[in-house]
Order: sequence, then structure tokens, then C-alpha cells
Amino acid sequence: MLEVKDVGYWYTHQDDSLFEHVNLSFEAGQSYAIVGQSGAGKTTFLSLLAGLDKPKAGQILYDDRNISEIGLTNYRKNDVSIVFQSYNLFTYMSAIDNLLTAMAITGSKHTGDKKYAIDMLHKLGLAHVQMQKNVQKLSGGQQQRVAIARTMACDANLVVADEPTGNLDEDNTIEVVDLFQKIAHEQGKCVIIVTHEAAVAQMCDHTYKLEKHVFSESV
Ligand SMILES: Nc1ncnc2c1ncn2[C@@H]1O[C@H](COP(=O)(O)OP(=O)(O)OP(=O)(O)O)[C@@H](O)[C@H]1O
Ligand SMILES: [Mg+2]
Repeated sequence: MLEVKDVGYWYTHQDDSLFEHVNLSFEAGQSYAIVGQSGAGKTTFLSLLAGLDKPKAGQILYDDRNISEIGLTNYRKNDVSIVFQSYNLFTYMSAIDNLLTAMAITGSKHTGDKKYAIDMLHKLGLAHVQMQKNVQKLSGGQQQRVAIARTMACDANLVVADEPTGNLDEDNTIEVVDLFQKIAHEQGKCVIIVTHEAAVAQMCDHTYKLEKHVFSESV
């Protein structure tokens, strides 16, 4: 689904590359953890996969098409769904309206289907009263579940998440990673998670480690 070909990235000088000649592939129906030390360039790499920034060298192919050719705006709108550590919900809305709005913005085939949004939130363990409250009145774990429900409600086949469990306790962390596994295995999406936590990486199907400017698959 996603092919990273000879990708390199630096912020100021090429001699200060975060990574160079990266060749990796990501398949549909599988989950991937990206690990590595703080400052190694994990978030930067994820932002390239998500089409938020362009590689300085090499290319990223989505279903065999260079994402620059698809157009980063189109790619982000149609193909990718992003989950951040800080949820990134529309804070002035309820959970239900967050899903409905995201579905409308991305032109999901379920646009306007409130029952679909409610079902999705139910599946993620949100009670009816919780879905109707302003999301700021929900706990961290509940807000992250809304962010994940939003990802599941949209049609994008690639899900990228940067430290999605960074603000959660152990129980909520396991639940959230379980949900990501379901998104990969039951919805057939490709899920890529940046994480510091070994427990999170262990639950994913594959782990790519960024160390000394190079990615390697660790088993
Ligand atoms: N916009 C920017 N301009 C210049 N340098 C940047 C910018 N963003 C990040 N960097 C630098 O690039 C390096 C990699 O940052 P990045 O955020 O990708 O690391 P990370 O692996 O995600 O770290 P962490 O685990 O702490 O989140 C860091 O040294 C950082 O200071
Ligand atoms: Mg980071």
C-alpha cells in the first residue's frame, strides 16, 4: 500500500540528515510500530508518510503512485487519517458531531449518517450520555477513543498515529492499541504508530526502529 523509496530528510543542511536512503514498505491489513530515541526523527518521518511535508530526497508511493503526484492535499483528504497524541478533536463539539463533521469534510460514504457515527462510538465503549457532551468534558482515554472512532468512520485506508497512547494509563493504552489492531485486521487498513513504549510496539505486527539515521526491522 505504501512504499518508501530512497527517502532522505533534513531540516537545514544535507550533512545533518535525520535519515537517508530509507526503503520501507507498509501493507494493508497490518500494523507497524515506529520506535527510536527522542529526537531521532520519528515524528518527522510520520509527517512525510502523512503528506504533511515532502521528502528532501526519494519518493513515497501510495498504491504505486507518488503522493506528490496525487497532490498532498488530495492525499491527506482521501487516503490518510491522522491521530495525534493530543487527540486534535473539534473541542467545541460533542463526540457525535466530531465524527459527523470529519465524515463530511473527508467526503466519507457515510456522510450525514448519525446512526453510523453512534454505532462506531458505541463499539469503542462510549455511553450515550458521553457522546453528546462537549468532548472537553471527557477523560483523556475517552477523547482518544473518539479520535480513533473518527478514524474508523472515515474511508481513508492509511492510519498514522503519533504517540497515541502518550497520555494514557496502562489499561487505556492496551485498549487503544487493541482498537488499532482491529482497524488493521478487521477493517483491512494499514496502521502506523510512532511510540516510545515497548509494550505498544510488541502488540503491533511489525516494528521499525530508527537508530543512527537508519531504519531496521526489529523482531
Ligand atoms: N521544524 C523544525 N525545524 C528544525 N528542526 C526540527 C524541526 N522539527 C524537528 N526538528 C529537529 O529534528 C529532530 C527530529 O525531531 P522529531 O520531532 O522528528 O523527533 P522524534 O523522534 O519524533 O522525537 P520525540 O520522540 O521526542 O517525539 C530533532 O532534533 C528536532 O529538534
Ligand atoms: Mg515525536
